Amino acid sequence: MCGIIGYIGKRQASPILLDGLRRLEYRGYDSAGMALSNGHGLEVIRRAGRIENLRKAVAEINPRGEVGISHTRWATHGAPTDANAHPHKDESGKLAVVHNGVIENYQQLRDWLKGEGHTFSSETDTEVLAHLIGFEYDGSTETDPIQRLVGAVQTALPRVKGTYGIAVIHEDAPSVIVGARLGSPLVVGLGEGEHYLASDVSAIVTHTKDVVYLNDYDVVTISRTGYDVQHVEGGAARVTVSRVDFTEDEAEKGDFPHFMLKEIYEQPNSIRNAIRGRLSKDEGTAILGGLQMTQQELRQVDRIILSACGTACHAGMVGEYLIESLARIPTEVEIASEFRYRNVPTTKDTLQIVISQSGETIDTLAALREAKRKGLKCLGIVNNVASTIARETDGGIYIHAGPEIGVAATKSFTSQVAVMTLLGLLFGRIHHLSSTDGLELIDELEAIPDKISQILAQADHIKQIAEKYAHVEGMLFMGRLNNYPVALEGALKMKEISYIYASGHPSAELKHGVIALVKPELPSVFIAPHDAVFEKNISNIEEVKARKGPVIAVATEGHPNIEKVADDVIYIPRCPSSLSPLLTVIPLQLLSYYVAVARGCDVDKPRNLAKSVTVE
Ligand code: M6R
Repeated sequence: MCGIIGYIGKRQASPILLDGLRRLEYRGYDSAGMALSNGHGLEVIRRAGRIENLRKAVAEINPRGEVGISHTRWATHGAPTDANAHPHKDESGKLAVVHNGVIENYQQLRDWLKGEGHTFSSETDTEVLAHLIGFEYDGSTETDPIQRLVGAVQTALPRVKGTYGIAVIHEDAPSVIVGARLGSPLVVGLGEGEHYLASDVSAIVTHTKDVVYLNDYDVVTISRTGYDVQHVEGGAARVTVSRVDFTEDEAEKGDFPHFMLKEIYEQPNSIRNAIRGRLSKDEGTAILGGLQMTQQELRQVDRIILSACGTACHAGMVGEYLIESLARIPTEVEIASEFRYRNVPTTKDTLQIVISQSGETIDTLAALREAKRKGLKCLGIVNNVASTIARETDGGIYIHAGPEIGVAATKSFTSQVAVMTLLGLLFGRIHHLSSTDGLELIDELEAIPDKISQILAQADHIKQIAEKYAHVEGMLFMGRLNNYPVALEGALKMKEISYIYASGHPSAELKHGVIALVKPELPSVFIAPHDAVFEKNISNIEEVKARKGPVIAVATEGHPNIEKVADDVIYIPRCPSSLSPLLTVIPLQLLSYYVAVARGCDVDKPRNLAKSVTVE
């Protein structure tokens, strides 16, 4: 949610900032802006709309400056207008701030600052933050302006309730950028004679691979020649330099028209990466060293709570089926935003597992912190190895899916399901699962990537189906057992990128209300692989057809009879029913993608959304 990039060095800042913003655009894209410092004051350029609008303005104005901060916004307070776009200035007009997060007590602070004679030109919480830091900045003394700016940030931030990742520049201190974080990610990029500040390494990975991930309550000062990290209350903070492990190519679309399509096609490989080196054929089990748990601790686990949001939550629901069926450990999924405010009963041996692609989703992070507060052992299933969730969990499993840039999550879902299969296998083998059954599952899991490639080879067929239904106003998604979460996921994908209203249901729930919606203009997508409830699904399809509802079925090859009841069929290769979500979700991803393209939607940047939801 919102992207920040700052640069200080020997080069002109604006092209670097624009390129970084382009890479961060998935975090928010309703307005963008930059502030440059050139020793003669601050130049601020802000534009509502996409970064392209800012780029055009910068091309016209040609601002100069080797120091700058910039921002792409996902609006929280105030509409996406030029006036609400970041950076925001303080009362003096000499200080500028970009901010990712939410200042919850901004109204009180604003009222108080107004009483102190401050005037505001936007509706944002960020402008209040700029004024607050400006208020604390003592411009009346001869002391070092850098120290005064850092001091002002350190004095202002403890007065703030909420979350922030910020970058601040001041006319009086043109040789530094000051940053700080609490709850919103911020990373320092280290270069030769230049430094960067960004909310995500993808913004700076073309310039440097050496980075420092800031922790909550850190305040950093970057200059051309160095950086200094302090605690917000003073004193040096702990600093670790890390090496970024992905290349800029991974964060580019390549020959694909959209990141989403690229990421859908990456799934055979991303699943291979998720399971590589984690399977023991000798023992018919999984090897998951990152859990940081002894055999004894694993054996004692008597309950598992999976917490996540959105697509990761749907993956968790598939995980619940996998873990319960393979290991017979009671497992439940708690939507992270609910878990954090509920008082879920736990046992002393309950294991909490949070699932998050970004590792920065604020609700998931809050669920993790709540579970830790209650003394639970907490693991993470995370993609972003440098994320806050990855750092705050006791252990976990990285999914190694590589950067996922498309706002619609695709490869992270299948990789999350793949590693939960490993987890189910590990727990299963500790309890009652035989090594033969374990080995069989391993063989089937290893065969999944090639089967996904076979489904991807049907993309043209799926595209034709998508174009046939692209005009509809709504769609139903039906599935049973472990394909019920896939129905939810199919509906989420359809909604978020094509803006077609869609809902997912357990197929048998149809006749308890949803069937009232069925009509010729409302297609239903049935996920009906050949499993224990296949015949039941066929009956549900018949019920829809009897009411003239069109049906698209996702079915297992070798069962052509389904063509007698469904209008359109997409076949998946055979696989054990426990693994079928890894296959059934692929046609649904492609279906939503091609529907969105046919409707002319901006697939990678759906309206109102952002990739990483770092506000509550
Ligand atoms: O980064 P996370 O996995 O924690 O993100 C969770 C959700 O915000 C995310 O899955 C969201 O629902 C996607 N836009 C779905 O495509």
